[in-house]
Amino acid sequence: MALALTVAVARAAAPEPLPWAADPPAAAARARVAALRELGRRLFFDVNLSASRTMSCASCHDPANHFAPANALAVQFGGPAGDRPGTRAVPSLAYGAAVPFFSEHYYESDDEGDESRDQGPTGGRTWDGRVNRARDQAAIPLLAANEMANADAGAVVARVAAADYAGSLRDLYGGTIFADVPRAFAAIGEALEAFEELPAVFSPFTSKYDAFLRGQATFTDAERRGLAAFNDPGRGNCAQCHPSKPNSKGDLPLFTDHGLVALGVPRNRELPANADPHYHDLGACGPLRRDLASRPEYCGLFRTPTLRNVATRRVYFHNGALRSLEDVVAFYATRDTSPGRWYARDASGRPVVFDDLPAAYRGNVNREPPFGRTRGDAPALTPAEVADVVAFLRTLTDGYQPGAAAEQTAAISAAAHRAR
Ligand code: HEC
Ligand code: HEC
Repeated sequence: MALALTVAVARAAAPEPLPWAADPPAAAARARVAALRELGRRLFFDVNLSASRTMSCASCHDPANHFAPANALAVQFGGPAGDRPGTRAVPSLAYGAAVPFFSEHYYESDDEGDESRDQGPTGGRTWDGRVNRARDQAAIPLLAANEMANADAGAVVARVAAADYAGSLRDLYGGTIFADVPRAFAAIGEALEAFEELPAVFSPFTSKYDAFLRGQATFTDAERRGLAAFNDPGRGNCAQCHPSKPNSKGDLPLFTDHGLVALGVPRNRELPANADPHYHDLGACGPLRRDLASRPEYCGLFRTPTLRNVATRRVYFHNGALRSLEDVVAFYATRDTSPGRWYARDASGRPVVFDDLPAAYRGNVNREPPFGRTRGDAPALTPAEVADVVAFLRTLTDGYQPGAAAEQTAAISAAAHRAR
C-alpha cells in the first residue's frame, strides 16, 4: 500500500496525466440535478397536467400539509370533472425517498439488529408496495381515471411540450425529446422523482423529537411517558414496526420499518367503493396490485407508514377509517379487548372482527403486542397511556421552533415553492 502510494505520488509529480480526471465533473452533475429538480417542481405544481386542468400532484400532496391532503376527506376526488373518488387515503410524501424496493424477504443491513433475520415482505411505494421507483409511481396518478385522468402517456407529453418550462426538458434530454413519447414520459417521471428526493423539502428532520435527540429540546412529562410506552415491548410495542431510535450509523429514525402487515383496520363505510359489499381492498394481494394475487397470505397487508408528521393528518390508515390520533392509538390498545368499539355488528349484535377482510383472510392479521389479548382483558395501554402516546406523536411534526410551533409548516411550504 505504502509503495503504491509512493508510486502514485511520484507519477502525479511527473508531467503524465493522472489516470483519473484532475477535476472530476462534479459541478456539471450538480447543475444537472438542480435543473432536474426545478423541472420536477414545475411539473409537481402544474394543474395543466390533468384532464380537468385543475389538479396537480400538489392538490392531493399539499406542501402546506407535509405533502398530504389539506382537507379531511378519507379519499380524494379526481377525473376530468373532479367527481371520481379514490379508494385509498393519500399518504404523505415526506420521508418517502427512503422506502426500499419491495422484497418478500427483507434483511435490514444498516440496523443494529441481527442482519440475518428475515423481516418478511417490506418496501415498495404506495400502500401495497407495488412500485419501486418514484419515477414509475408518477405514471399512476397521471393516468388514473379518478386522479389526473390523462388518456395516455402521449397526452401527458403533449401537455408538457406546451408548457412554458418545456425548454428545460429539451435542455436536459435533447432537442428532439418530445418526438419520443416513451422517453419523454420517462423523463417527466425522473424529474418528479428528483424533486421528491429534495431533502430540505421532503426530509427536513426538524421535529421537536429531532431537537430532543440532538439535545436541543426538553420533553414534557407526558411526552416522555408517551415515548416510553411507545417503545415498551410490553405496552405499545410501537417501535417494533415504527422504529424510534437512530440506527447504528446515526441516521435519525423514520418511524417505519417499511414492513407490510395486516392490522385488521375497520371497514370504512364512507368510501364510495365500499357501497359494494363484495368490494375489498386487500392491499398486497389486490385489486390494485396484481403480481401477488394468487398468494392468499398477502391479503390484507399494507405498508407501515412513517409516523413523522402524523399528527397533521386528518384521516388515518389506508382507508381513512379513523379520524383522530387518539382513536388510532386506542385502536391498537383495544382492538382485541373491546372489538365492539371498532367493528360493525352482525344481525345478532356481535361485532364482526376484522370486518374489512373476507373471513378467509382474517388469519393474516397480526396478533403480536400490543395486540393478541382477548376480550375482557386489560388493554395494552390505559386511557392515560393512550393520551401520553398521542402527546409523544405530536412531537414528530417538522418545523419545530421552541416557542414558535405555530409556524411549523409555513417554512417547508415556502421552501417547496422556491426549491432548487
Ligand atoms: C387525486 C389525488 C392524487 C393525486 C393528484 C396524486 N396522488 Fe400521489 N397518491 C395518491 C394516493 C391515493 C396514493 C396511494 C396510492 C395507493 O396506495 O395505491 C398516492 C401515492 C403516491 C406516492 C407513493 C407514496 C408512498 O408512501 O409510497 C407517490 C410517490 C405519489 N403519490 C406521488 C405523486 C405524484 C408525483 C403526483 C403527480 C404526478 C401525484 N402523486 C398525484 C393520491 C394522489
Ligand atoms: C406489527 C407492526 C405495527 C405495530 C406494532 C404498530 N404499527 Fe402502526 N402501523 C402499522 C401498519 C402496517 C400501518 C398501516 C395499516 C393500514 O393502513 O392498514 C400502521 C399505521 C399507523 C398509523 C396511521 C398512520 C397513517 O399515516 O395513516 C399510526 C398513527 C400508527 N400506526 C401508530 C402506531 C402506534 C402508536 C403503535 C403502538 C401502539 C403502532 N402504530 C404499532 C404497523 C404497526
